[in-house]
Amino acid sequence: MKITVIGTGYVGLVSGACFADVGNDVLCLDVDPSKIKILEDGGIPIYEPGLQEMVKRNVAAGRLHFTTDVEKAAHFGTVQFIAVGTPPDEDGSADMKYVIAAARNIGKYMTDYKVVVDKSTVPVGTADRVKAAIADELAKRGVSTPFSVVSNPEFLKEGAAIDDFMRPDRIVVGCEDEQAALNMRALYAPIQRNHDRLIVMDIRSAELTKYAANAMLATRISFMNELANLAEKLGADIENVRKGIGSDPRIGYDFLYAGAGYGGSCFPKDVQALVKTAQDDAGITLQVLTAVEAANDAQKRVLGGKVIKRFGADLKGKHFALWGLAFKANTDDMRKATSRDVIQDLLDAGATVTAYDPVAMKEAQHCFPNEARLTYAESQTAALEGADALIIVTEWREFRSPDFDTIKAKLKQPVIFDGRNLYDPKLVRSMGIEYQAIGR
Ligand SMILES: NC(=O)c1ccc[n+]([C@@H]2O[C@H](COP(=O)([O-])OP(=O)(O)OC[C@H]3O[C@@H](n4cnc5c(N)ncnc54)[C@H](O)[C@@H]3O)[C@@H](O)[C@H]2O)c1
Repeated sequence: MKITVIGTGYVGLVSGACFADVGNDVLCLDVDPSKIKILEDGGIPIYEPGLQEMVKRNVAAGRLHFTTDVEKAAHFGTVQFIAVGTPPDEDGSADMKYVIAAARNIGKYMTDYKVVVDKSTVPVGTADRVKAAIADELAKRGVSTPFSVVSNPEFLKEGAAIDDFMRPDRIVVGCEDEQAALNMRALYAPIQRNHDRLIVMDIRSAELTKYAANAMLATRISFMNELANLAEKLGADIENVRKGIGSDPRIGYDFLYAGAGYGGSCFPKDVQALVKTAQDDAGITLQVLTAVEAANDAQKRVLGGKVIKRFGADLKGKHFALWGLAFKANTDDMRKATSRDVIQDLLDAGATVTAYDPVAMKEAQHCFPNEARLTYAESQTAALEGADALIIVTEWREFRSPDFDTIKAKLKQPVIFDGRNLYDPKLVRSMGIEYQAIGR
């Protein structure tokens, strides 16, 4: 099949590479020429395990191409995936200008039947807006070329994106006509040979499904974070509680980890957008999700608060080592990362910080431009040099079993603030290190 992917970010590039890898002919379009240049030069603009090799392999096989040429992209694919960003607008609703611009570009140039697929996370009703935008552009040209609009939300996780895409739990397709459903079925057939994972439904339900999934996951996290704060006060250990409830199959173990708050490019904006859609389009206040968001905002300040409680509100002259910048392990994505809040809290209190992250330090520099009190280290050990204490914000695997003797020797005061509950408190404390985790 010939496929155009519009938007070559975390979702677009992974989707494009994976579709090419199963034999399709894929053209990835982006409006950012610097991204396309990196790709044309054989690099990739993001960090995602396994993606570089997959892109290389498919470029070499002649199945994967990149362009900034909107007209060429509109002509190329019978299936046109819209995978552009849907960042939060000032009022919290999803900003649809990139999606609508992509739709208009298709309408401006298409000359034959297209299946236009919304892969971006978009509010209920977006498919109607996409359809109207394309129809409007076709009308301006005085043509009536046929097209279908499909909702096919993406559920991949950064850090495990290729595996998620190639072995999905489910493929949700919101669709109104048989022709488009047939195209989607054919497109996804190679990655669901074992059994059918395609769930075909009406478009609005598909659009809502994506928000519902992220909202549920965010709810589990905020729920556990609140209980963790309670456990701390009551002298309980949230990790024991997690095991105790996760063993119930109705609850399950996944997404029950207490921590320093969720970040990333999806949960914060999707929870916010769903609350906003409910309020504006349906006059309904989503009380649970409003609380989920508020609990998370507060949770992102918990680590900084613990440091201030321990070292005082005035942190001038204090220096901290910080391990982990990315919003989670195995990605360089810094969007809404908790590290940003923690660093800001420390800087505001007058401290200096040296951070280390295996892949996200370049991205972090864009988040804190010209911040002289934030420096970066070449290794996790180097970050400890001259630090009063260590703060852990991201659960990278390489942080899971550190040399505690080295940590103790390097820190001025042997204190670890662990925002991801990576260690056994008894073990760390037995080594003479003060250990402050979340809910333990
Ligand atoms: N990142 C994730 O883990 C993830 C997972 C599932 C769903 N999503 C959703 O997928 C969508 C994309 O997310 P992302 O993280 O890949 O975003 P991203 O910011 O990494 O990539 C979006 C890309 O679209 C490009 N773009 C914007 N307007 C364009 C246009 N008119 N034509 C061509 N390119 C254009 C941008 O330059 C950018 O490179 C969002 O709606 C997001 O919520 C993301």
